[in-house]
Amino acid sequence: MNHTHKQMTTTAGNPIADNQNSMTAGARGPVLMQDYQLLEKLAHQNRERIPERVVHAKGSGAFGKLTITHDITQYSKAAVFSEIGKATDCLLRFSTVAGERGAADAERDVRGWALKFYTDEGNWDMVGNNTPVFFVRDPLKFPDFIHTQKRHPKTNMRSATAMWDFWSLSPESLHQVTILMSDRGLPKSYRHTNGYGSHTYSFINAKNERFWVKFHFKTRQGIQTMTNEEAAKLIGEDRESSQKDLYEAIEAGDFPQWDFKIQVMPEADAEHYSINPFDLTKVWPHADYPLIDVGTLELNRNPENYFQEIEQAAFSPSNIVPGISFSPDKMLQARIFSYADAHRYRVGTWYESLPVNRPKSPVNTYHMDGSMNAATPSSSDAYYEPNSMGGATEDARFAEPPLKISGDADRYNHREGNDDYSQAGDLFRLMSEDQQQQLFNNIAAAMQGVPQHIVERQLAHFDQADPAYGDGVRAALQA
Ligand code: NDP
Ligand code: HEM
Repeated sequence: MNHTHKQMTTTAGNPIADNQNSMTAGARGPVLMQDYQLLEKLAHQNRERIPERVVHAKGSGAFGKLTITHDITQYSKAAVFSEIGKATDCLLRFSTVAGERGAADAERDVRGWALKFYTDEGNWDMVGNNTPVFFVRDPLKFPDFIHTQKRHPKTNMRSATAMWDFWSLSPESLHQVTILMSDRGLPKSYRHTNGYGSHTYSFINAKNERFWVKFHFKTRQGIQTMTNEEAAKLIGEDRESSQKDLYEAIEAGDFPQWDFKIQVMPEADAEHYSINPFDLTKVWPHADYPLIDVGTLELNRNPENYFQEIEQAAFSPSNIVPGISFSPDKMLQARIFSYADAHRYRVGTWYESLPVNRPKSPVNTYHMDGSMNAATPSSSDAYYEPNSMGGATEDARFAEPPLKISGDADRYNHREGNDDYSQAGDLFRLMSEDQQQQLFNNIAAAMQGVPQHIVERQLAHFDQADPAYGDGVRAALQA
């Protein structure tokens, strides 16, 4: 045996003498129960899969850093923004939404943009998309929407009828549907997408003043997209095109970068701004709230182990840090519950103590015991709170300013008096003629086989956004 030899062992560290031949009763005989090596190997294999994410199952990720280039301390006291030049480690996982873990990358779909910043004050997760808006504005509709994107229970195939039926009955989806069906609905790779926090979040500064904020990450690689035909050809040759593009760029030292910008609204503006700033189907027009420079995001390190660092990564909008917080957006409120709940099921109760999820700052909770717990500090008398044993305590400095909320508890019709058409129309009107034609063609292709009464209902929405939008789709459907 030479000195570099590493002894193969069981999980208990017991040396293995033979990893080629099972232990049998005679050369041709059956295997023995006592071949624990074989039993352990088979048992472990049976447990190699964890549930895939219920949405955004197919993804790719890489590590990097956020570097602050501009002073925004007047808006937020978050440590991550504390000084120009400040660099914070991060993980970014991109994804598609509808496909399963083995789905092809080059599909027409929204791209997920999930960021975890390992800040000095705990993890800040910004779980966004490559689009600034979303399909629904009430979380009660999220599972219904997702069902239309996944497989039909009987055919086990995806259903264009379900998608357009739901969208045509949910006019709040029109803005996002327009983005999805535009050239940007089929990005060439993850590197060539922008990222958006989409929701309105809040900033709190050192004077405890609150601002509403939207997050934007603008690609320095440029927006690059594909036509349906280009994507079909690509998928025929390579189902992992985005994974390959990201991995190889980083391996080659061609580190992708994004400019991090924000839009900021003083707290009081929300009450009189013409648009409900907490409506996830709307943007804040740049003319009203211009982009403010903050920093640069760079990805520069591929994971060493995809499963451990990307599949087990757990991002949640509930992870906020002092100076960055929530808003009344109903969708965001639901997401505060949904993600950590998903992680406890998908990864396990102590998912946040896995290396990829573990904050780089101290963690002091009083949670105890539980399956696979390697996190609880042991041998301390301070295992309850309050205690007089020197255990961790709260600090009122981190309290947020009170948020004024008023109104009667009820189920308010969010479709009443809400303009679902102007911003979809604005987007349509800023497209070049070529982009508009792509939009018409993409919609016509996506509507193949959909019953006529559903098509007509959706055409009426396009008409309301812009008559030329509806006419263009009609012409493409007849072509
Ligand atoms: P601006 O002219 O100031 O900005 C237009 C924005 O549209 C830019 O951010 C541009 O992104 C983006 N854009 C261009 N083509 C597409 C597309 N096919 N899909 C998605 N985004 C696209 O206009 P306004 O701020 O007044 O907004 C007008 C419309 O632009 C909105 O209704 C919205 O649909 C869209 N938009 C607005 C954003 C915002 O935060 N205000 C953000 C993204 C889109 P880029 O600079 O990367 O080319
Ligand atoms: C993933 C729920 C809306 C972006 C997920 C997951 C759940 C979920 C349960 C899987 C989490 C996991 O297993 O790790 C919801 C609910 C929503 C909602 C209930 C609305 C009420 C949104 C919106 C965005 C978004 C509006 C973007 C702005 C993402 C992304 C992922 C994801 C990027 C993948 C995260 C990763 O890479 O691990 N969502 N979602 N979701 N969601 Fe949402």
